[in-house]
Amino acid sequence: MQLLEDEVAVITGAASGIGRTTAETFASHGASVVVADVDDGGTDTVERIEKNGGEATFVQTDVSDPEDVQAMIETALEEYGGIDVLYNNAAIEGPVSRLHEYDDEAFEQVIDVNLKGVWYGIKYGIEAMRADGGGRIVSACSIGGEVAVPQYSGYGAAKAAVSNLTKHAAIEYADEGIRANAVAPGIVHTEMIERVMAENPAMETQFRETEPMPGLADPEEIATAVLFLGSDLSSRVTGVTLPVEGGYLAQ
Ligand SMILES: NC(=O)c1ccc[n+]([C@@H]2O[C@H](COP(=O)([O-])OP(=O)(O)OC[C@H]3O[C@@H](n4cnc5c(N)ncnc54)[C@H](O)[C@@H]3O)[C@@H](O)[C@H]2O)c1
Repeated sequence: MQLLEDEVAVITGAASGIGRTTAETFASHGASVVVADVDDGGTDTVERIEKNGGEATFVQTDVSDPEDVQAMIETALEEYGGIDVLYNNAAIEGPVSRLHEYDDEAFEQVIDVNLKGVWYGIKYGIEAMRADGGGRIVSACSIGGEVAVPQYSGYGAAKAAVSNLTKHAAIEYADEGIRANAVAPGIVHTEMIERVMAENPAMETQFRETEPMPGLADPEEIATAVLFLGSDLSSRVTGVTLPVEGGYLAQ
């Protein structure tokens, strides 16, 4: 069953990891995908989608720049005539550092990308969706936004704020056909986690034992949750942050 047939999706941070896998999943369900990323590896995502018979366009976007985000939305309107699903996925992990040693500039960077980037996406995405009868917004949160994960204060604060923004978007536009939800993954085997493990090899064992379900999640396991929230399968769901974390938050 194609859940996004003839629909248009915009996915940020789609040059890598969960974003790339979600772009491929959405395309396999019939969506035309605007692949947005600050990294030009987004062109590889487009190639992979096209090789499988799908439709995609790359637009280089720094989500912390409101003009870039507006241009990203504009690309969806110009190339494909609208926007049905927006997945605000782009983020950076920031430093692994205790709060009193956390670098101020790094904190600002994390807030700029992980919070303001989602804010711009939601704001300009809603503008386009309102003009077109509605749509679905999904944003990337984390277990680190639901509870404190030591040494990730900037990342966690940004993700917690994204959960709250999601609720605002959900209730303010519930009567205009726009739904807004978020996913909160646990530890997912992507480039982001590879980077953290490369810097702190001891963390691999810790990561693998974090979730009650053993091991790390595959990006596909997050992409299918985003597909649920981004499609009509979740037609009555809005304002939630869906944990996809092998039971971590149930403890
Ligand atoms: N991997 C995990 O364990 C995990 C856990 C919880 C939440 N998440 C969240 O899932 C999302 C995807 O994570 P991932 O693991 O796939 O990460 P990743 O590092 O593999 O991919 C992130 C992508 O975002 C892009 N990006 C970074 N800054 C950007 C900017 N300013 N503008 C546009 N694009 C930018 C990067 O170029 C990259 O392609 C993030 O929001 C992350 O916080 C990941």
